[in-house]
Formats: sequence, C-alpha cells, structure tokens
Amino acid sequence: MTVATDAVLRAGAIQRERYGTQIEIEHKGSIDLVTEVDKACEAVIVEAIRSRFPDHDIVAEEADYERHGSRDVWFVDPLDGTTNFAHGYPCFAASVAVARDGEVVAGAVYDPLRADLFTAERGAGAWHNGRRMRVSKASRLIDSLLITGFPYDVHTDTPSKVRRFTHLIGQARAIRRDGAAAIDLAYLAAGRIDGFWEDVLKPWDMLAGNLMIEEAGGRVSRYDGSRVGLEADEIAASNGALHAELLAALAEA
Ligand code: IPD
Ligand code: CA
Ligand code: CA
Repeated sequence: MTVATDAVLRAGAIQRERYGTQIEIEHKGSIDLVTEVDKACEAVIVEAIRSRFPDHDIVAEEADYERHGSRDVWFVDPLDGTTNFAHGYPCFAASVAVARDGEVVAGAVYDPLRADLFTAERGAGAWHNGRRMRVSKASRLIDSLLITGFPYDVHTDTPSKVRRFTHLIGQARAIRRDGAAAIDLAYLAAGRIDGFWEDVLKPWDMLAGNLMIEEAGGRVSRYDGSRVGLEADEIAASNGALHAELLAALAEA
C-alpha cells in the first residue's frame, strides 16, 4: 500500500501541474482520448513500482509491459478521467492496485485537485486521507445518490447503453455521471454516494476502488450478483444495504 500510495501521489503531482495548460491530445478512438499527461503519469507510476519490485508484473492502460508470470500483478490507470482532464473539467485521479495470487490486496486512488487520497489494504481497512472509511447507510433506492458511467462505445447502439440509466433515474433520489470511475468507486467507499453501476470497466479502472468498497463494508458484484474478478467486467456496487434493490432495478431495466 505504501508503494501504491507513493505512485499515485507522484502521478497526481504531474496532473496538478499540467492541469489547465496546453497539452498534446491524441485519439485512441472517435471519442477515446490519450494525452501526454496520461503517458507521463504512467511512466512515473511504473518507475515507482519497478524501483521497489522489479520482478512484479504490471498491467497498465497506455502501454504493454512484458509479463513474467509473477504472483504479484499491478494494475495502473495513470489518469482516470482523461476526457475531463482534456476539457479542464476538475474530476480526475490516478489509480493503482496490486493483486497477489489473483486477489487484490492493496490499492490507492488520488485526486490531486482536492488532495483526496483513498487507500485500502485487504483485511486491514480503507482510508480517506488517513481516516477510516465506512459506506453509507441508505437502504432504499429512493433515498440514494447513485453514479454511473458510459463506456467509449456509447455511440454504437446508444439506446441499450442508456436503458439502465433511464430506468434507474425514476427510482433513485438522483444520479450523477462524473467521468472518472476510480473516483466514483472511492466515493462509494467514503459514503459520499450509495450505489454505482457501469456496463464495462477495465481492471485498472475498478480494482483499487472495488477493494476500498469491500473494506469499507460495501458490496461489489456483476449485475447478476456473481463475483467480479481481475478481468474487464460489468460492475454493480453499493453500500450493501442497497445491493438487492439495485440489482433488481438493473435486472428490470
Ligand atoms: C474512463 C472513466 C469513465 C468511465 C469509462 C472509463 P479513462 O476511464 O473512468 O468514467 O465511464 O468507462 O474508461 O479513459 O478516463 O481512464
Ligand atoms: Ca480509467
Ligand atoms: Ca486512464
């Protein structure tokens, strides 16, 4: 957790410094961007990990790193919320998680504009700026603030992508779409929101946040209630009290 924390703080320093300045932007798809800041942040995170654990494997969003079959695998989102960052919308973070033998054991997410550091260690707890996090207590959707996100293929078959949003907006107190899944999940762990879902998240988007939610007393599953592993997947997450009602509403949609 110390190395994960150090890594996200280093990336956050770059993000804070470059935010609002002229940056180079490339397209990975028609609406999927990558900036020079994503790449610079990935480089410092990979260096922070490699300098301590040269034998560990790394799976990161912006480049392929040779894997050696290590039992320890790091998952790196150097800049979660790239679209926000590129537009100057102040919601983005770095996210780092590490798994041992297929189970995530530690993670860190850092939002440099708010100086919000979220960390978790399996079996030990989850913290926001060093203070223990607990999920919220809301037990009904009508009393809940939810967040969702839309994957980058939202332009292909848009109706199916917004179906769940349309259904849930009529059931919850309110829904947000803030564009940085790692922050969304950390906010759930911190009790700032009550539930979250998204149709496809990559491991680097979700693994640190998922651990935080579990360590803060919440639940993470697929839409049918089954377990989320280390692969890209759909995510339904909640404070636990809300989980059955959230899954039922997603199924109805
Ligand atoms: C994206 C953000 C967004 C989510 C997308 C992710 P990126 O990550 O987390 O909120 O809806 O599914 O891909 O591209 O900004 O790292
Ligand atoms: Ca991401
Ligand atoms: Ca990213």
